[in-house]
Amino acid sequence: MILNKKIKDKTAKIAVVGLGYVGLPLAIEFVKAGFNVLGIDVDRKKIDSVNNGENYIKDIDDSILKDAVDSNSLNATDNFSLVKDIDFIFICVPTPLNNQKDPDISYIVSVMDKIKTYLHKDMVLILESTTYPGTTKELILPYVNEDEFNIGEDFFLCFSPERIDPGNKNFNTSNTPKVIGGITNNCTKIGALLYNSIVDEVIEVGSTETAEMVKLLENTFRAINIGLANEIAIMCEKLGVNVWEVIDAAATKPFGFMKFLPGPGLGGHCIPIDPHYLSWKLKKLDYEARFIQLASEINTNMPNHVLNLISQSLNNRQKTINGSKILILGVAYKKDINDTRESPALDIMQLLLEGGAIIDYYDPYIPIVDFEKIIIQSSKILKKKKLKSYDVCVVVTDHTNIDYELVYNHCQLIIDTRNIFEGKNGSHIKRLGQG
Ligand SMILES: NC(=O)c1ccc[n+]([C@@H]2O[C@H](COP(=O)([O-])OP(=O)(O)OC[C@H]3O[C@@H](n4cnc5c(N)ncnc54)[C@H](O)[C@@H]3O)[C@@H](O)[C@H]2O)c1
Repeated sequence: MILNKKIKDKTAKIAVVGLGYVGLPLAIEFVKAGFNVLGIDVDRKKIDSVNNGENYIKDIDDSILKDAVDSNSLNATDNFSLVKDIDFIFICVPTPLNNQKDPDISYIVSVMDKIKTYLHKDMVLILESTTYPGTTKELILPYVNEDEFNIGEDFFLCFSPERIDPGNKNFNTSNTPKVIGGITNNCTKIGALLYNSIVDEVIEVGSTETAEMVKLLENTFRAINIGLANEIAIMCEKLGVNVWEVIDAAATKPFGFMKFLPGPGLGGHCIPIDPHYLSWKLKKLDYEARFIQLASEINTNMPNHVLNLISQSLNNRQKTINGSKILILGVAYKKDINDTRESPALDIMQLLLEGGAIIDYYDPYIPIVDFEKIIIQSSKILKKKKLKSYDVCVVVTDHTNIDYELVYNHCQLIIDTRNIFEGKNGSHIKRLGQG
């Protein structure tokens, strides 16, 4: 088969549509494996950055991107017609929720509308964007004209969920097993063969729906277990027990327990969103996904819970949120990354602003936060005198490179939502999950 040969001799031409947190690392892995990659995006800034060899994804090594571009192995464009010469095309565009918290698959639709006339024989199309079970078959397959193509013989369609975990020092695209399911067995096989050249292990599943569901199970599992940890934290506050100590001790059980931590709420483009793709699909089938609903309620209420902790702690000092000077430490949705999408810090800041607080924030990775009506810039550095001037400092994101000793020693009052001050007690610390 012609495509097998092209994979073997690295002449297969690859396109990655959507050069974000998922697409760019994927493109780089193919370049590292010896393939030529075309990156396609609609964002001119990203296209120019890539073509200038300027990296904007923290998990990618700057020099690797630069070398890829300098050696002409990676090019970026917004010209979708170039797909006509491509053998393997990967779709890695956003799949957010709309205002009603329903799936917004318009980005996938837009890509398909733009590439449909350039689909050709001996082409493999793989969707990587997280989506509801059935998307590949119900939404993408109809674009592939079945009069013109014979699926599994001269056109191949698959779903393979991206499992990248930004900021994870141990696992990246290449050493995280890849799951793939095709419309036919031949589709799965050809997709798996290509992935085998960039990842250590490929797991083939029986259908595109199975592969789609795998991703949703993984992230629903996380959302629900984080929801449980958050509810246990609230219970512990009421019981006067330290939830962090409880979880650490429970995690010594060598079987049957997996450690999840409470926090100020869910963030990122996956965990708060993906379960809603599943519940939306199930609603269409007259089934209510109750676990998802409950976890979502608990998790989305965590910023309000943090607000209550701040309010109560200020109240104990005869102060109110209204008029207090408050420093937020960390606004990225998780530690050591530069992404604020769905970050609970933004909700907490918004609630504080609505309550009349005067807020500053410090995040070494996020220079600016734009609330449309208000734009706030990160403090450049943490200084003793400045820290002392705040009525309260709230640790929302526990970045590694923050001087917590300085914060501990000079803040009047600290709300710690991440247990970053583990083992440190004092009347000026209020910890989430501790009575
Ligand atoms: N970020 C993660 O940690 C992560 C992990 C696993 C899976 N995912 C999933 O991967 C998908 C992509 O997520 P991401 O974090 O990379 O998003 P992103 O926003 O970082 O990147 C998406 C890119 O797609 C581009 N784009 C938007 N519309 C386009 C179009 N019509 N044509 C071409 N390009 C277009 C955007 O300009 C952007 O560069 C989502 O479905 C997400 O759920 C994300």
